[in-house]
Amino acid sequence: MSQQQTNLERSILVTSALPYANGPIHLGHLVEYIQTDIWARFQRLRGNTCYYVCADDAHGTPIMLRARQDDITPEELIAAVQKEHEADFADFHIGFDNYYTTHSEENRHFASNIYLKLREDGHIRTETIKQAYDPEAEMFLPDRFIKGTCPKCGTEDQYGDNCEVCGATYDPTELKNPVSVVSGATPIEKDSEQYFFKLSDFSEMLQQWLKAGHVQSEVANKLEEWFEEGLQDWDISRNAPYWGFEIPDAPGKYFYVWLDAPIGYMASFKNFCDKHGIDFDDYWAADSDNELYHFIGKDIARFHTLFWPAVLEGSGYRKPTAVFCHGFLTVNGQKMSKSRGTFIKARTYLDNLNPEYLRYYYTAKLSSGVDDIDLNLDDFMQRVNSDLVGKVVNIASRCAGFISKKFGGQLSAELPEPGLYNEMVAAGDIIAEHYENREYNKAVREIMAQADRANVYIDENKPWVLIKEEGRGDDVQRICTQGLNMFRLLMTWLKPILPATAEKSEAFLNTEFSWASISEPLLSHGINKFKPLLTRIEKEQIEAMTHDSIEQTTVNDDAAEETLSGPLADDPIADEINFDDFARVDLRIAKIVKAKHVEGADKLLQLTLDLGDGSNDKTRRNVFAGIKSAYKPEDLEGKLTVMVANLAPRKMRFGISEGMVLAAGPGGKDLFILNPDDGAIPGMKVK
Ligand code: 2FM
Ligand code: ZN
Repeated sequence: MSQQQTNLERSILVTSALPYANGPIHLGHLVEYIQTDIWARFQRLRGNTCYYVCADDAHGTPIMLRARQDDITPEELIAAVQKEHEADFADFHIGFDNYYTTHSEENRHFASNIYLKLREDGHIRTETIKQAYDPEAEMFLPDRFIKGTCPKCGTEDQYGDNCEVCGATYDPTELKNPVSVVSGATPIEKDSEQYFFKLSDFSEMLQQWLKAGHVQSEVANKLEEWFEEGLQDWDISRNAPYWGFEIPDAPGKYFYVWLDAPIGYMASFKNFCDKHGIDFDDYWAADSDNELYHFIGKDIARFHTLFWPAVLEGSGYRKPTAVFCHGFLTVNGQKMSKSRGTFIKARTYLDNLNPEYLRYYYTAKLSSGVDDIDLNLDDFMQRVNSDLVGKVVNIASRCAGFISKKFGGQLSAELPEPGLYNEMVAAGDIIAEHYENREYNKAVREIMAQADRANVYIDENKPWVLIKEEGRGDDVQRICTQGLNMFRLLMTWLKPILPATAEKSEAFLNTEFSWASISEPLLSHGINKFKPLLTRIEKEQIEAMTHDSIEQTTVNDDAAEETLSGPLADDPIADEINFDDFARVDLRIAKIVKAKHVEGADKLLQLTLDLGDGSNDKTRRNVFAGIKSAYKPEDLEGKLTVMVANLAPRKMRFGISEGMVLAAGPGGKDLFILNPDDGAIPGMKVK
């Protein structure tokens, strides 16, 4: 799908999917935000108006339960998470024009009005249906909050909507031995009246719309299958207790999170418009000529290409110009895994590496298709080092010194090779086309081909040799001027990907980069002193990032959050170890002599453990354990537990931890350690 580039300035609004407000941003999320941000920056660099808005997706059952588990209000939870998300995005140079929340007055307004309009026009119906209900927690259960045995293949511990082993999809009522993830109770079936959006009213419109090229062909094919199955009406209501917006005139019924989430795009934009005097209707009215694009992951295509356009159509708004789906991220060829240290949070990455490395690597891998992309950590290091440091930055560092030291920072009055320069400028058209079409990997390949040409030019002209020859000073100035102008081209094209390095390069070359201005080289122009732009990635940085990620899943407080998130945690079993590996772990019975809260930690308790009879300090250990959700400190004192006694001491945010406590259970309040009457004696070996 290619948008023609006209001479007229375009007005564009882009969005990325709204991340849920109950977990950290990780490298998987960042594929999308980086992809969208680059596209928005590219459009601006071309002289178009392009707004980029997003928000936290702040409603729904998981957020309600998570807040309950943390003993805070949902408002407190979403505010804290939004703050973290915004900091992560800012540090990755994701340049949103507005970042908001779906829990906003604007969103309540739009969600209610859209619903009322749909109802008025007959697109809403009610029906009493049977749903799974947790009699203990007194709430209706979403499919993902019921687990049981797969009705098809008999595998235990499967979610209520599909089996991860045989791939069967089913209704939670079909599960054998179902249990509620919330309380452990057996769910019962209960009648309740729900509100349905009549998606089938829009069947024809959607079929036309999908044929008109608003989605990628792979997605259109998938949708074709859903059409063949027939469009089902969509249940947009949920019963109290629910965290969201109450449906107007329907007390105790709430909008399902997926109804108000995409409306959050509008709400965030409205919030932006009000602050900056922009006309909201210019972008959302049914007859708007401006462009609207949603960047999303392929897993949520159905919401954005069926429900969303139908809701917009039914409520009198414009539909998206296009919905762009991307694939998932794998790391080192596999699904991200906590135990392998490849489940990497945005913050953990930022603690160790420059965000522009990742922006570049993703760009070098991304195409316009829905294929998954792989972050191979070795390849990542090599590629960044050889392309960005070895090829691009190198051009500037080889030419800058001569200009500033020998020629007072002045570029020459002419280029020695204008033909070469113009040929490179011409390559900008194809690069722009690749960016426009989200064929980023092709854009990067072309930019690097041009960087190779620039390097060949410098290698052949050897300013470092000429400078030693009598009377060749002018040549050196001209060669370096050619080199720096070629560097300027490369950095202009790379600016959407590397905004911070581009900014430093602009300061160095004393000019602002724009696509339109590169046809004219910088001549007789004063530049500034060169400062290093980007350094190489060292292997140790990647190792430290992996190490930190593993550590988070074992002993520190954030890790406690991850590992104790209960049955929802989804992590494959770690790589196999042999018996010798296991034998090295010294598991001992220890007595908890003291337990107390840790200031500033949400999940941890500080334990004083004794591996002996309590008669001397040498057998005492200080351990931080993520079991606060299950135990009050005073209830732990005197109890026995199993600990890893030979774990090397580790420095944590709150002090040194000298071991690790083992506990079992689904998480939350159900985390079990030993009782004193289990017949164990402190110090006793456990295997
Ligand atoms: O899948 C998700 O992570 C959702 N929070 C995406 C919502 S996108 C939009 F519709 F709001
Ligand atoms: Zn199965």
